[in-house]
Order: sequence, then structure tokens, then C-alpha cells
Amino acid sequence: MTSERPQLSRETLLVHGSSRSDQRTGALVPPLVLSATYAHGNQEKLAYSRDRNPTWELLEAAVAQLEGAAGAVAFASGMAGISAALELLPMGGEVVVAQDAYTGTRDLLSHLSSTGRLRARRVDATAPAALEEIGGAEMVWLESMGNPLLSVPDLRAWAAAAHRRGAILLVDNTLATPLLCRPLELGADLVAHSASKHLGGHSDLMLGVVAGQDPELISRLRQHRTRQGGCPGQMEAWLALRGMRTLAVRLSRQCQTADFLARELTGTPRVKEVHYPGLATHPQHRLAEEQLEGGFGALLALELEVEAEAAERVCTSTRIWTNATSLGSVESLLERRGRWAGEEYLPPGLLRLSCGIENREDLLEDLGRALAQVGAGPLA
Ligand SMILES: Cc1ncc(COP(=O)(O)O)c(C=O)c1O
Repeated sequence: MTSERPQLSRETLLVHGSSRSDQRTGALVPPLVLSATYAHGNQEKLAYSRDRNPTWELLEAAVAQLEGAAGAVAFASGMAGISAALELLPMGGEVVVAQDAYTGTRDLLSHLSSTGRLRARRVDATAPAALEEIGGAEMVWLESMGNPLLSVPDLRAWAAAAHRRGAILLVDNTLATPLLCRPLELGADLVAHSASKHLGGHSDLMLGVVAGQDPELISRLRQHRTRQGGCPGQMEAWLALRGMRTLAVRLSRQCQTADFLARELTGTPRVKEVHYPGLATHPQHRLAEEQLEGGFGALLALELEVEAEAAERVCTSTRIWTNATSLGSVESLLERRGRWAGEEYLPPGLLRLSCGIENREDLLEDLGRALAQVGAGPLA
């Protein structure tokens, strides 16, 4: 009698997905292949490491498996992957992009628009009317969770609208990770990650990955990488594989902490609004409940009724939270987002918090003390 083997959960795949490789030695940890070149005639048909490398290939296979993709291509950074994905557009092609997409993506789109390479149109991706605005665009560019206000676009509806118009949908899934959201299952064509964030998880590497269902798109991304040379470092790919083995436990704790802080900070003095998709007050809370699985993410935004200078003072007076940009790592980070070019539209007192894996009561106490200095928060 044969029995069907049950499909493994993503938590299990994260631990074991990349460690089957070395059956010859029995090593539990996948090998780090640093070699830049390979002797001709090898069984794997490897030739040169700007084209292919076994350590990247393990990472690509692991991300593809988690995202439910046919293939994935790793890049030197999230931005290198984003640039490669935009290269899929024809000369002068058009992309419809979420207005709160990552600043680096918006900056690149402005640059490419200024050179005539492509045209970019920004829309409020949470507004149902925006679905009618795809027009003749070849690509729609969304994030599974916008940043820093954690907007949640309806990916299924966008995929259907994009396909009706003959456009492809790309979703940057960096903030949600494939544990919380799987855009390809909802109809997206491509998924992009800055693996420098949650996947790596330790603030010690720069890496990007783009995954998708269509082998032709994947092959074009791979060719682009070989031609342009935006390939990942072998060590970074190996570190990402190591980081991913603990992604499920890290992320689960980070989500719990973010949820805890969001609730503890809501309604406290001079906290005008806490932006977190897990709160019933979040404008897309219902959709987030449907579209996200196992948590609402590790980020929250705190809108303080204080001036920029006071908000900066909060950021520089914490002991545990570090005043730094980035997200998704084991250590908790906070910053005033309005300090960045392109984010001036945000309220001056808006802080973005990326929860790490420290004790949540310590985090609350540390933040509470810093907030109290400007008359805000639970200790004010
Ligand atoms: C959502 C998102 N996508 C892409 C990137 C770019 O990734 P990288 O910094 O690895 O180039 C970032 C970086 O902050 C990001 O937050």
C-alpha cells in the first residue's frame, strides 16, 4: 500500500530545505562554494561564478520553494533584483506603482523616467478605483505591505485587473516574507525580496531575490544578471541560507512583539495613531486578516503629536532600540521616516519601528522612557 507523503510546512522546509544537498559527506550545513571558476567538463556544467554558483542555487531553490515559484534568481541586493525586474519592460514601457512603494524603488523609477527608459505612474494601491487605472501599462508594482504605514493592497484583485489588461504583477514581499503572504498564490507573476531584511535576518548581508512562475521571465532575469554582473556574493548567499533556517521562529516572535507594542502604545498621550495591520483601526485590517497568515508583520509606525526635533530626540534616547534604518533583523530598530528624501510627505513625528527578538517588556520600557521625555507614550 502506498501512502501520499504530506506536504511539508514552510517552517519545516526552512530548516531542512537547503540541507539535503550534501549527501556525499553528510554535512548538515550546505557547502559554501567560493570558487569563481570551474574546471571544464564538470557534471554540473558550471563554468563561471557570474553565471552560476552552487551556493546561490541552493538559496534560489529554497526561496522558490517557499514562494511556490517555478524558479528564483538571486542578486547582489534587493535593488539589483528590482532593477533587473524593471529591465523586463520594453523601452518606454509603463509601470503602475504603489504610491508608498519603497523609497529606493521610487527613486529608481524617477531616474529611469527621467532618462526616457520607462514611464511610471503612482497610484494609491489600496483604493479600489486605482484598479481601473492600469491603462496600457505593462507592469504593476506593489508591495504586500506598504511602508511605513503598512498599507495592504488587495493582491488578488490587482492580479486579476493586471491580467485583464495584459500587464504583469510584481509584488515586493520583503516585509511579509513567504511565511505571512504568498503573492504568487494570489495571482502575482513575480515576487521580489530584499533578503538583506527578514530572510537574512541579522543585518549582516546585502542580497536580493526575484521569484516567479514563468520560466521565460526567470530566464530573462538570469540573463540580465549574467550580463550586468549584479550577482550575489557567495558568502552572502550562504549567510542568507543560514538566516532562513530560523526565519519562522524569528518572525513569529517579531510579529507578536509588534502586535503587543501596537496595543500598548495605542491611546497613550501624544500618540495620535499607531499604524499596524493587526489593529482593528487599520484601514485594511479585514483584508490583512484574509491575505496574511500567521501574523501582521514586524513593523509598526507610531504617529506622535510632536515636532520632528522631538521625534528625533526619542530615537536617540533609547538604550535597546537602535536609531537606524532597515528592518527585519534580530535587533529592534527605530527611525523618523521623514528624515529621508522622498518621505517628506509623512507627518514629521512619524516613527517606524522594526521589532527584533529582544524581550518585549524590555522594548516597551525602553521606548516608554524615551517617549516620556517628549510627553508621549505609556509612561508620560
Ligand atoms: C521593501 C523593500 N524592498 C527593497 C529594498 C531594497 O533592498 P536592498 O537594500 O537589499 O537593496 C528595501 C530596502 O530597504 C525594502 O525595504
